[in-house]
Amino acid sequence: MSQTGLRGVAAGQTAICTCGAGGHALHYRGYSIESLAENAVFEEVAWLLTRGELPTAAELEGYRKKLRGLRGLPRALRETLERIPADAHPMDVIRTGVSALGCIEPEGDFSRQTDAGDRIMAALPGVIGYWSQFSESGARPETETEDESLAGHMLRMATGEAPTAERLRAMDVSLILYAEHEFNASTFVGRVVAATLSDFHSAIVAAIGALRGPLHGGANEAAMALIERFADAESARKGVLEMLQRKEKIMGFGHAVYTVRDPRSDIIKEQARILSAGHPRAELLEISQAVEDVMRAEKKLFPNLDFYSASSYHFMGVATSLFTPIFAVSRMSGWAAHIFEQRGNNKLIRPGAEYIGPEEREFTPLDSR
Ligand code: COA
Repeated sequence: MSQTGLRGVAAGQTAICTCGAGGHALHYRGYSIESLAENAVFEEVAWLLTRGELPTAAELEGYRKKLRGLRGLPRALRETLERIPADAHPMDVIRTGVSALGCIEPEGDFSRQTDAGDRIMAALPGVIGYWSQFSESGARPETETEDESLAGHMLRMATGEAPTAERLRAMDVSLILYAEHEFNASTFVGRVVAATLSDFHSAIVAAIGALRGPLHGGANEAAMALIERFADAESARKGVLEMLQRKEKIMGFGHAVYTVRDPRSDIIKEQARILSAGHPRAELLEISQAVEDVMRAEKKLFPNLDFYSASSYHFMGVATSLFTPIFAVSRMSGWAAHIFEQRGNNKLIRPGAEYIGPEEREFTPLDSR
């Protein structure tokens, strides 16, 4: 057996999400991603994932109010954030932020897991905004904003500006698309940690670490770095062809599960199109389209969610280094749902390995080696 990365292996059961049916379908608890992105707000989706059903109007209002009330950062956390170097990667910052929160407000009894999940998700935009604004200018921004939605709060924390209606809708859609994706690497890591009966914060810290890599969540930042390199569509076509000749990977393309298309890509591409209108770097959309055309023609590979998320976030005014942390804020809902599910029917996750090392041999004493 060569390295398979466990492709196609069902590593457990879940009632939260199905992805990849027919090579292109994605459902959260039975609802298609297309219907959720068109009709729901992010908090409805986060409730669906973590509580199992769509909320009633009263439940949604109560949930949004609860999340708004959980945005404040304790002083010890703010002090911790102020000590992190200004050139740290924001993913390292949120990993540290969640870890610190786990010391300051430990989960304790598992019966408080829902509150722990809500708290981390509500506090993370503030962790990102507080650290990035403090490290840039020494400012200590208020993280308890009045924004009604998590999307609005996220945008204000990431950009320092009040969100426009267009950006707000695009961020909400983006959060819905990034919320959940079955046994992806970070979620699986979170479940492995939860299965040891460790605490909620430890599982999230591990998941953030897995999400950081460019083959997973980090792909949206790598995709931005790619499209920014090109001045126009023609140089993008030429540049990507050269990269493919050098056998380089183009971040934001291909998928471990989808074979036909990533259903989230068309949805975020449409948001990128709307946001690009009148933007001074609108040509980034044509450059992205040129990269997509080359990848389809040369490699038969399609864009995944990360590719057009890059230009969307850029058009929303978000700094590239905050792309993956925003993904983490959204995925908190999926991670939490999976930790709850794992704990609800737990078995330690401990697979075997195919041994490919030497046969049994005699121990050589130190002075004879
Ligand atoms: N750019 C160029 N070539 C790619 C590619 C990409 N983005 N994705 C896959 N390929 C090629 C590989 O080079 C390989 O070619 P080969 O058979 O000639 O060696 C073939 O397609 C299979 O690649 P592999 O990495 O084994 O596919 P996978 O299905 O196991 O991997 C990913 C899926 C997501 C890891 C892979 O597509 C990738 O690395 N994409 C870029 C990172 C990314 O966007 N990640 C976010 C995922 S949502």
